[in-house]
Amino acid sequence: MPRTILEVDREPQLAFPVAEETTSHGKPDFQVAYRVETPRLVLRCWSPEDAPALRAALDKSDRHLRPFIPFMKDEPRSLQGTEDWLCGHRAAFDRGENFRFGVFTKDGQLVGENMLLRRVGPDALEIGYLTHLGFEGRGYATEASAALVKVAFEFYDAQRVEIHHAAANRASGRIPERLGFTLRETLRDHIEDTEGRLHDGVIWCLHAPEYPATPPARAEITAFDALGQPME
Ligand SMILES: CC(C)(COP(=O)(O)OP(=O)(O)OC[C@H]1O[C@@H](n2cnc3c(N)ncnc32)[C@H](O)[C@@H]1OP(=O)(O)O)[C@@H](O)C(=O)NCCC(=O)NCCS
Repeated sequence: MPRTILEVDREPQLAFPVAEETTSHGKPDFQVAYRVETPRLVLRCWSPEDAPALRAALDKSDRHLRPFIPFMKDEPRSLQGTEDWLCGHRAAFDRGENFRFGVFTKDGQLVGENMLLRRVGPDALEIGYLTHLGFEGRGYATEASAALVKVAFEFYDAQRVEIHHAAANRASGRIPERLGFTLRETLRDHIEDTEGRLHDGVIWCLHAPEYPATPPARAEITAFDALGQPME
């Protein structure tokens, strides 16, 4: 029997059922951005060298992230397991399957993670985000997500960008709202929690024709390719 949203608010343990991030859309035909700079942040393809910083951040943020982040079901990993995991992210990035970025302040502090996932269709991308404890509420997830919306439409020629989240995750929902997305649908019992119970999920969309009028279109970013060259 699915729980009500009120019960979810008391003890949320939500994760999207589609934890798989792999895709069958083949190698992308666009040049991939390995690093994206915003006024305050650097988003860059994960490196195994980030394992100690990520390990510390995930351990500190465990209770904050576990209710809403699918990969937390496999946490805590060992340091070696974290390094292997980041090697996998890097490999998926190089293969053009999915693009998971560590998000850092300009002075190198790890703030969170933002993702461009290719699992929502051949001409579409899904954005995911998280901010570690100690850095939340400063607009970092909004700023990093705006940057990836811009990358998706201006460099990857996406026709649609989606953001999915649990209906109970109101902080997450503010991000697509602020970025000019439209709430497309609420899917009943779309999300399975860590105990196998189902909850409503929300899907936000932004289509290419709507993008120029949104805040991400005005975001100041510089994207760099695999060679570190600025992309135009
Ligand atoms: C949701 C999350 C990514 C927001 O990150 P953030 O960097 O704090 O976000 P921002 O500072 O850009 O703020 C985005 C909105 O979230 C709100 N927000 C941030 N933390 C919040 C909290 N603890 N409670 C309520 N709202 C919160 C902000 O106030 C803002 O809304 P506003 O425009 O009405 O002011 C972060 O709280 C998080 O990582 N949560 C756990 C993981 C998660 O839910 N990821 C998303 C899965 S779909």
